Amino acid sequence: MVALNIVEATNRAMAKDKSAGRPYVAVVGGGTSGIGSYAALELAKVHGEVGQAASRGLRVYILGRRASDTLLGELRAACPFGTFEFVQAKDLGLLKDVDRVSSLLIEKETAYSTQEGHAAKVDLLVASQGILSFGGRQDTEEGLEWSMAIGYYGRVRLVDRLLPLLTQTVSPPAVGHVAFVMNPQLEGDIVVDDLSLRNPKAFSLRNRGSHLAIFSTFYMEALAARNPGTLSLVHYYPGGVKSGIAETSNLGFFIRTMFRIALPLMRIVNVPEAESGQRIAFLGTTSVYPPSGDKAARKLPTGTSVSVGADGKVGSGAYRINYNDDSLKNNDKASKYRADGVGEKIYEHTQRAFQTVAAGKKFEE
Ligand SMILES: NC(=O)c1ccc[n+]([C@@H]2O[C@H](COP(=O)([O-])OP(=O)(O)OC[C@H]3O[C@@H](n4cnc5c(N)ncnc54)[C@H](OP(=O)(O)O)[C@@H]3O)[C@@H](O)[C@H]2O)c1
Repeated sequence: MVALNIVEATNRAMAKDKSAGRPYVAVVGGGTSGIGSYAALELAKVHGEVGQAASRGLRVYILGRRASDTLLGELRAACPFGTFEFVQAKDLGLLKDVDRVSSLLIEKETAYSTQEGHAAKVDLLVASQGILSFGGRQDTEEGLEWSMAIGYYGRVRLVDRLLPLLTQTVSPPAVGHVAFVMNPQLEGDIVVDDLSLRNPKAFSLRNRGSHLAIFSTFYMEALAARNPGTLSLVHYYPGGVKSGIAETSNLGFFIRTMFRIALPLMRIVNVPEAESGQRIAFLGTTSVYPPSGDKAARKLPTGTSVSVGADGKVGSGAYRINYNDDSLKNNDKASKYRADGVGEKIYEHTQRAFQTVAAGKKFEE
């Protein structure tokens, strides 16, 4: 576990690191509520607290469907010299909407960086958009199961589309970081010959959770291997965190009532909102979460070490991290799938989905 005071001190040091000569840029998918909004708010607080003279500057893009003036007001109050922009999504479970939002983000960030006289770069992408779904299969018009489309396909499409900015080689060198908020502990059996779970017998809550988790880990490993020295990705379990998810997800009366009863009790064991936000900001620490093939000499924050990657190797670029910043113990099932080359199979399946939808067709694999 990385102690919270070390997390906070590291985040302050990152905020004060002016050697980059440009502001810190974060994109927060699902930033309008819950875990994403806490990450945005803590970034703003850290920069606001170190003060304009000491801060390197901050720009945060918030993605979601519902603009939150309250949140934008809080962000601006916490860091008056920062730039906070809401980028409206229609549905990040639709790849065409992810593409539209990504193009808008790249356009906006390129305009800012040109004005400021530096290369456009995204330092941290938080992917926290998601819903709870206990219902049956519901496909989008693009042929993807909707909850998988929001939690996996749309998220990794967002990462793919922002790769030019995440992996931009700038001077001084800076690594792009991805924090994928989900749960690696859901990794279990997957249906290798029906990755989309189209067979009604294969489609169950358990299989969907396991596919979401394994697909996410393996896609991150594939991206880390393809982007050595420039990209670091974390599949992150945030712990229990108070959020709006039970209200915004379409849960039905019974499950919503169960949540209403359970949520106040869970607050006793929940990760506090501010801690959750600080710990997500910390996932952007390159010395602790380096990209694959990292050759740079980096100073580790006191009390930390280079994390063990999802493949069990130290510093391998894609990480499975618990809420307290510990690496999660390796999962035998995922190891077996990795050894059998299932990771590449998932990467290729995902790319085929992207290409099919980009060609204006419905994905039917
Ligand atoms: N909270 C926990 O204890 C916990 C634990 C483990 C994992 N997680 C995971 O963490 C992620 C974040 O959850 P949270 O608890 O912070 O929930 P939340 O408060 O409901 O936040 C979810 C965010 O996703 C956005 N979103 C949902 N559907 C969307 C769509 N179709 N298009 C675009 N944006 C969409 C929402 O924004 P708009 O409504 O504005 O679109 C909101 O900003 C989820 O994937 C959840 O499964 C949460």
